Amino acid sequence: MLNSIPDVVLVHGFPLDEEMWVDQVAFLRALGYRVFTPNLPGFGQRAGNPPHRCSISAFAEDIHHYIIRNCKLPCIIGGFSMGGYVVLALLHRFAKDACAAVLIDTHPAADSPEARQGRMKSITSLQTDGIQSLVAQMLPRLLSPTASLSLRHRVEQIIARQQPAGMIQAQMAAAMRVDQTEHLSNIVIPCLVVGGSQDIITPPELMKKWQCKITRSQWVEIPNAGHLTPMEAPDTVNQAIADFIIKKVYSGSQPSIGNSQNAT
Ligand code: MLT
Repeated sequence: MLNSIPDVVLVHGFPLDEEMWVDQVAFLRALGYRVFTPNLPGFGQRAGNPPHRCSISAFAEDIHHYIIRNCKLPCIIGGFSMGGYVVLALLHRFAKDACAAVLIDTHPAADSPEARQGRMKSITSLQTDGIQSLVAQMLPRLLSPTASLSLRHRVEQIIARQQPAGMIQAQMAAAMRVDQTEHLSNIVIPCLVVGGSQDIITPPELMKKWQCKITRSQWVEIPNAGHLTPMEAPDTVNQAIADFIIKKVYSGSQPSIGNSQNAT
């Protein structure tokens, strides 16, 4: 347990940006935590990386630099899906700077040959048919069939404003990422692992198989939600994160409401 209030850093997934965390940011800031949601290179308003820095490991270095510049260390670091790949790579190389981790709808394995092929196909359709083709492909994979129209519309808008070059770079980086499974047993900090019951990209059965390899981990399944749980079931995800922090990371006097800093 820490004896001071930790900062929280959340890394978005593909093909999204920091706006996917809007509900978590509002909730945790209202509790008084400082919350940081850096964009990955090529997403949000950020420029992409040069080709030699187009890898999950380079993205992890990039987020680590951000954390060193902006946060009180060690901090809680969380990632959703591709953001989880980045967090696992970061934990492997810079473990001392994290006091806890939150891994949401993600997994540690490298891409299978079929998954790599799928990424190459999606790069081709992005280049030939534009972003709308990716929106159509991704929406049914990110959200459960019962997600509301307004949520679909919000997610669609986030995807549609991303830069194709950033998306291509991220697909290449994800396709080439190294398998982190063998490093899971080296993670000694408390770790919250969250997954949607209807996630078809990283289903609960897959997530529980790797989660149990992290000694101090805890699994929370989010009912009636697909892959994008932070947006589809924000209240349940927020509560899971808040409970985890109080039970496993920092149980001292909680930050007071209104005392949060305007971290971005
Ligand atoms: C994500 O949600 O970040 C992606 O589905 C992950 C991936 O493409 O591997």
